[in-house]
Amino acid sequence: MIAAICARHSVRRYSPEPLSEGEWAALRRAVAAVEPLDGSLEVHLALLSFDEVGGRLAVGALLTFNPAPAYLVLHAPEQEGRMEEAGFRGEQVILAATALGLGTCWVGGTFSAGAVAKRLGRPAADVLAISPVGHPDPGRLGRLSNAATEAVARSGGKRKPLASFCFGQHWGIALQPGLVPPEVYRALEMARLAPSWSNLQPWYFLVEGDAVWAIGDSRPQRFNDRPGKPYYRLDVGIAMSHFWLAMREAGHGSRWYSVRGHEGEVQERLGLPQAMVPIGHYRL
Ligand SMILES: Cc1cc2nc3c(=O)[nH]c(=O)nc-3n(C[C@H](O)[C@H](O)[C@H](O)COP(=O)(O)O)c2cc1C
Repeated sequence: MIAAICARHSVRRYSPEPLSEGEWAALRRAVAAVEPLDGSLEVHLALLSFDEVGGRLAVGALLTFNPAPAYLVLHAPEQEGRMEEAGFRGEQVILAATALGLGTCWVGGTFSAGAVAKRLGRPAADVLAISPVGHPDPGRLGRLSNAATEAVARSGGKRKPLASFCFGQHWGIALQPGLVPPEVYRALEMARLAPSWSNLQPWYFLVEGDAVWAIGDSRPQRFNDRPGKPYYRLDVGIAMSHFWLAMREAGHGSRWYSVRGHEGEVQERLGLPQAMVPIGHYRL
């Protein structure tokens, strides 16, 4: 999975080549194999064709995007924790698609949740995000549409330095590489490569003793706070997925535990600023 994490980037233009039967089957297997962050939450992953998902208007295949043969749709009834859960689960399929050589792009803003919801027979409030899945268009248009989108994304599409969001022992104290086992540092580097809404990268990690805390910046930025859909939490779920997959590949069997319901006390104990919301902790 580390190879897929490093290879993944958002793809917005697709070739007209359909997915083969084998590719559909591999994607369905990836959906079935998804592991939850919190198995008690109801979050659905649907893999649909372009026609099934509702066509151009539904998926926003208008300017920067063109149609892809398949779409991953993440939907969940309103419940606390659904955003990070969707990010954590959805990213596993995104990476499986990447490993198959397919392109993907998380889409939270530039699509019609209402139109997709209608196709699923669910309320629009349930539809959290989609991702096209298909063979990337190798041509100039593909590169141009990505370059145009990344140019307006935070940091021109580049990632923040690790020391600006990974802290050791105390909030705000940059994590020194020698203070954690090399595989933990590597897993944090993999979290850094996570995709996020407009490349906001609203995640922080605090290594305290044998715990790694995943923390989200809840300040609304670039329209990422839709009613009932705080997308910063979905982004943090994706970064947690990368961290967990990298640790697993390094032989660690541990997992993330949600801090839902205890955010206030954890925030106080860790000395986090007001807007920084603890989301999960991982036992090393
Ligand atoms: C939750 C989420 C929502 C996103 N929504 C959109 C979107 O509506 N339109 C779009 O073009 N890209 C969208 N993106 C893609 C980001 O712009 C992209 O991940 C980021 O700029 C980093 O680039 P990379 O994925 O190539 O590493 C979204 C990403 C995430 C994680």
